[in-house]
Amino acid sequence: MNHANQTPRHVPVLLARADEILGPALVSGGVLVDATLGLGGHAEHFLRTYPAIRLIGLDRDTEALRLAGERLRPFEDRITLVHTRYDSLAEALGTAGLPATASVRAVLMDLGVSSMQLDESERGFAYSIDAPLDMRMDPTAELTAADVLNTYSHGDLARVLKTYGEERFAGRIASEVVRRRQQRPFSTSAQLVELLYDAIPAATRRTGGHPAKRTFQALRVEVNRELESLEAALPAALDALEVGGRIVVMSYQSLEDKVVKQVLAQRSASRTPVGLPVELPGMGPEFKILTRGAEKASASEIEDNPRAAPVRMRAAERIEEAG
Ligand SMILES: C[S@@+](CC[C@H](N)C(=O)[O-])C[C@H]1O[C@@H](n2cnc3c(N)ncnc32)[C@H](O)[C@@H]1O
Repeated sequence: MNHANQTPRHVPVLLARADEILGPALVSGGVLVDATLGLGGHAEHFLRTYPAIRLIGLDRDTEALRLAGERLRPFEDRITLVHTRYDSLAEALGTAGLPATASVRAVLMDLGVSSMQLDESERGFAYSIDAPLDMRMDPTAELTAADVLNTYSHGDLARVLKTYGEERFAGRIASEVVRRRQQRPFSTSAQLVELLYDAIPAATRRTGGHPAKRTFQALRVEVNRELESLEAALPAALDALEVGGRIVVMSYQSLEDKVVKQVLAQRSASRTPVGLPVELPGMGPEFKILTRGAEKASASEIEDNPRAAPVRMRAAERIEEAG
């Protein structure tokens, strides 16, 4: 594993904007939950800038937690780090001695893969380097990308590729996977990349980007149950916020952003039954949306940090107690 050069390769995405939004909720202290601690880039900034806050940092990746723990050692009396999926946020609050509702001032979710996970070629996230077909964010989890390719039925493979990768040639790729695995089970990313070059017509490659991009994304989402985890985590994160508390969510693919958009829209709509002329007391919206649409990184941030290119940020503030 190459951990040299750790600081320069990791730049927290939309840091200034996340601070602008979460800062007002944190100036007088309280708890910040960083549900995707990663290498602790955002966390370090908030701990340094707001000396009265306490941070609860979650990550499913044990190696990320270890490295973030080292980085955040100067703040060790103000942090609790928990190895968990973010859908267990309520339980993690319990571990830190807090109730699951109305107990935190801010939540940050910077979704997706970390730069470390992408850089560590042996974890198999990058299609550009030949590596074992692993893609587990949590190295202690069971299912790997190779397991998906070697054991899923044709129908399930095609569904995963189409739903999570938005891959036009999902059926054709699934057929080729099933045919080739009978001769030799899949174990390396090069085997899969070769198949994708053969299965995706050359003419569409000119417009569709690298032929492996969508299939690798789909496998990663499936292996890590990314969308199910997010769908379960967002309501728990919103429930955890006190009135005046704020949440920032950064997504890196449209399926995630769609989930975030829907959940925030639903929780910021009035709870008064449709047709009543006035808002019933205690039935107004629980949240106010703080971003107009999904905010993107600026051209100059993308130039400095190309991994910021796909980011879509949404944020909200709790304005009412839960009904
Ligand atoms: C983009 S990185 C976060 C980077 C971090 N904000 C920083 O500044 O260093 C995303 C992190 O979220 C973690 N992650 C992804 N899905 C998760 C889940 N369902 N539960 C917990 N952690 C998750 C990944 O392991 C990864 O370390």
